[in-house]
Amino acid sequence: MAFQRRRQHHNHQHRLRVVVPIISSVFSALLILFALLSFLAPSPSDTDHLHHPRRFTSTDNVDGPTGVPVFRVQRDGGKLDRDIWSSRNAQFYHGCSIASSKFAKAGDVTHSNRYLAIVTSGGLNQQRTGIIDAVVAARILNATLVIPKLDQKSFWKDASDFSEIFDVDRFISVLSKDVKIIKQIPRKGGKSLTPYHMRVPRKCNEKCYQNRVLPVLLKRHAVQLSKFDYRLANKLDTDLQKLRCRVNYHALSFTDSIQKMGEKLVHQMRMKGKHYIALHLRFEPDMLAFSGCYYGGGDKERKELGAIRKRWKTLHISNPDKERRHGKCPLTPLEVGLMLRALGYGSDVHIYVASGEVYGGEETLAPLKALFPNFYSKETIASKELEPFSSFSSRMAALDFIVCDESDIFVTNNNGNILGTSQPFVQMLKSSIGYF
Ligand SMILES: *[C@@H]1O[C@H](CO)[C@@H](O)[C@H](O)[C@H]1NC(C)=O
Repeated sequence: MAFQRRRQHHNHQHRLRVVVPIISSVFSALLILFALLSFLAPSPSDTDHLHHPRRFTSTDNVDGPTGVPVFRVQRDGGKLDRDIWSSRNAQFYHGCSIASSKFAKAGDVTHSNRYLAIVTSGGLNQQRTGIIDAVVAARILNATLVIPKLDQKSFWKDASDFSEIFDVDRFISVLSKDVKIIKQIPRKGGKSLTPYHMRVPRKCNEKCYQNRVLPVLLKRHAVQLSKFDYRLANKLDTDLQKLRCRVNYHALSFTDSIQKMGEKLVHQMRMKGKHYIALHLRFEPDMLAFSGCYYGGGDKERKELGAIRKRWKTLHISNPDKERRHGKCPLTPLEVGLMLRALGYGSDVHIYVASGEVYGGEETLAPLKALFPNFYSKETIASKELEPFSSFSSRMAALDFIVCDESDIFVTNNNGNILGTSQPFVQMLKSSIGYF
């Protein structure tokens, strides 16, 4: 089984993952550091002095070329007294996904005549979250889950269905003791059940599903929940949280062709060096517009992002500076680079960047590349081989997911990221590390 192989591979490697979730109050200390760095950061044109091989060291805070004080990050990364590729706490992480003995088998709780269907919303990250939550929602309702439909009209425009991204049979079989899953709503007496379409509020908890969905389900027998993203509470009964882990880390895997291509990319990265950092850089124009933040691009930026905001009609930014001070803005590539350097990663480190369209393109990326010249993406380490995937944004994102998943260090510049390490998920990721 693909999963077994992967698990052995992980155990064999004894690689310890360091997750660096940035936008999280737990890491506010980091943000203060970053605020200091970004305030004193040199402009992109004079970042040259920030990248030198590690054998050079300079720890001075020296005046910049124009006499303006410039904060200089130690050239060697500065913190080489510890192993920057491992985490001291990793030894305390353990798998948490095995159900407790009191968790009943699906066969004993599933009511026939209760079918739950969902339609996801958004790109790959949101899809995964929606699918995970849908399994748990079906379990709460003692219903049979119908293989989720994917949002094919989102911003990301990908016509793939579930089976073209995820391994359906594995999904069904791995979860067979937890939730009954079928590919289609069955026909009864020649007529197929027509599901009743409705939505649930965001972060709906167990009670909320019982109060809102159950009565409809009892009456209509099939319900389809649409725009299904973040529709389940983060705080749930432990056995339901464990079920979330089982779906995310055990049941939900990509199709063979995606998995194989992803492994090729990982292999390419490993050929380049022993370790690599994966950075999920969310810096697309829509993302920046949505953040309500200002990124220093002057009138051009105000106009361009303003146009997107106007289209949505929802966003009013009262005080972008305050948003930034409160750590609510995605870090820019330069800020990510400075933060990594301050954490001790030198210019010899290899970085894989998972990203869509970067606002400002090469110009925005240049300062990060200046700090970390060993800079790769799937497009730079593979070309022709990507063709079968390239017109499907979710399949491309899945390739990035695999490279991020296999990385030694995972960094993200915002909390809606590819490995789902936003606050509630940090716990899950850490506690599932033994199986990851
Ligand atoms: C689901 O089944 C369990 C076990 O029989 C029961 O305790 C629970 O109330 C049921 N929930 C719903 C929503 O039917």
